[in-house]
Amino acid sequence: MPIQRFSHVAYRCADARKTVDFYTQLLGLEYAFAVAENYVPSTGEFDPHIHVFLRVSPGSYLAFFELSEAPEMGFDPNTPDWVQHLALQVPSVEEVRRYKEVLENAGIAVLGITDHGIFKSIYFRDPSGHRVEITCESLSDELCEQLGARSKALLDEWSHTRRAPDIGIHRSGSLAGAGNPEDRPLRE
Ligand SMILES: [Fe+2]
Repeated sequence: MPIQRFSHVAYRCADARKTVDFYTQLLGLEYAFAVAENYVPSTGEFDPHIHVFLRVSPGSYLAFFELSEAPEMGFDPNTPDWVQHLALQVPSVEEVRRYKEVLENAGIAVLGITDHGIFKSIYFRDPSGHRVEITCESLSDELCEQLGARSKALLDEWSHTRRAPDIGIHRSGSLAGAGNPEDRPLRE
């Protein structure tokens, strides 16, 4: 299959300028380009909008729409807000720490660093209220293999029980038995 990477992921934003300023000035993304239209190209309906693209890596963009005529934006009320998020990867936990400092110095509330066993992450809100995660992978080859080997069985079990099994990603970076709430499987 020839899929290479994300071209872009697109979210709605409340204010395109504030969004571009936030992602460029605080997170260091590049404002690559924008498209403004009064009619939706795919459906033809009237819905004036600007579509801004922030370059994450060559050929991959984080994109936002600001709509000028639509009702105020909201989020899915039936899905917990910790589920609705976007995650950006950095190369090391030092970088995660650096972003935490930059964001807090700008007056933005930051949750974490949270250790998921396979990721170390911080969480905060962008100007539209999107929950953003900055994360680094802390996935050893050994743990990657263990998780991969277990993934089919885990999905099968979840499909039957809709409950997490008594096994999780241990803080030390290996799969371990339960009993300790810290050992619960990957969560946000
Ligand atoms: Fe996440």
